[in-house]
Amino acid sequence: MSKYGSFPGSRPRRLRTSPVMRRMVAETRLHPADFILPAFVREGVAEPVPIQAMPGVVQHTRDSLKKAAVEAVEAGVSGIMLFGVPEESKKDGNGTPGTDPDGILQVAIRDVRAEVGDELLVMSDLCLDETTDHGHCGVLDEQGRVDNDATLERYAEMAQVQADAGAHVVGPSGMMDGQIGVVRDALDQIGREDVAVLAYTAKYSSAFYGPFREAVGSSLRGDRKTYQQDPANWRESLRELALDVEEGADLVMVKPAGPYLDILARVSDAVDLPVVAYQISGEYSMVEAAAEKGWVDRDRAIFETLTGIRRAGARNILTYWAVEAARKLEGWQ
Ligand code: PBG
Repeated sequence: MSKYGSFPGSRPRRLRTSPVMRRMVAETRLHPADFILPAFVREGVAEPVPIQAMPGVVQHTRDSLKKAAVEAVEAGVSGIMLFGVPEESKKDGNGTPGTDPDGILQVAIRDVRAEVGDELLVMSDLCLDETTDHGHCGVLDEQGRVDNDATLERYAEMAQVQADAGAHVVGPSGMMDGQIGVVRDALDQIGREDVAVLAYTAKYSSAFYGPFREAVGSSLRGDRKTYQQDPANWRESLRELALDVEEGADLVMVKPAGPYLDILARVSDAVDLPVVAYQISGEYSMVEAAAEKGWVDRDRAIFETLTGIRRAGARNILTYWAVEAARKLEGWQ
């Protein structure tokens, strides 16, 4: 008995006493197979181009992309999500490079498949913003508004050329209504039932995409608020989820990850498909910037964000730290 009352009968601290005890009772573990590496490949450059707003990330050349894919395989990462950056002069209102069999994304898919075969899942961003001169994720109507159904036709064509190039998984990320159903049908029509659809299900209109715009050289005029979700809402994520499941999604994604862990938890409770989270460019850059200033411990911050995303319900995580995190995991947990 203490002078000030009874001693605690229950002592949660016992399970925190030593590293081996903490490791034994850890509820969340990370594994290299959890990770998917997003990667950018730029047309017509001889050397990789550093992305200023994402220290440590580059726009790859075709060659350096192949090397990055081999490194991802060696690190045990599950997949690589490819984004193509076409030459500026090739962009137009329809996003033509997105359906050109020789467009940079299709070339990159073929390159990576030739390099690593089936050892790494080759995933492709299925969206128009990297290839349009106005930077929107769809084509525009005469009033300059994003035309949902005309965009779906472009997505269907993109799905087919990406599958022809060798994508194992396509990732429609434009938040158009009906995009998953159209992409599924387009793939099935050319006999590609084997290609999986990673649906960007709950994709929010976020300030944290900022650095990505530099990464893909996007010259977006305006914003994406008429198609991406409002950060104030969670219930519409469940509506988007129900639609994507009905339309044939194989995997569902929540994006961004860190500021939307509640959405991740609710989506993973509501669905029996694997849930994927995208830790986006701004989430990456915030940690890198604070670490560079010595304000946070970089590795601890990286692993804390990744663990939090897994704990909230993500089966897999797209992260720019995929390869580094996979390599460091053993010493970490
Ligand atoms: C759309 C797309 C975006 C990202 C992935 N796919 C940009 C956007 O919606 O504005 C962002 C990824 C990131 O910020 O890391 N093609």
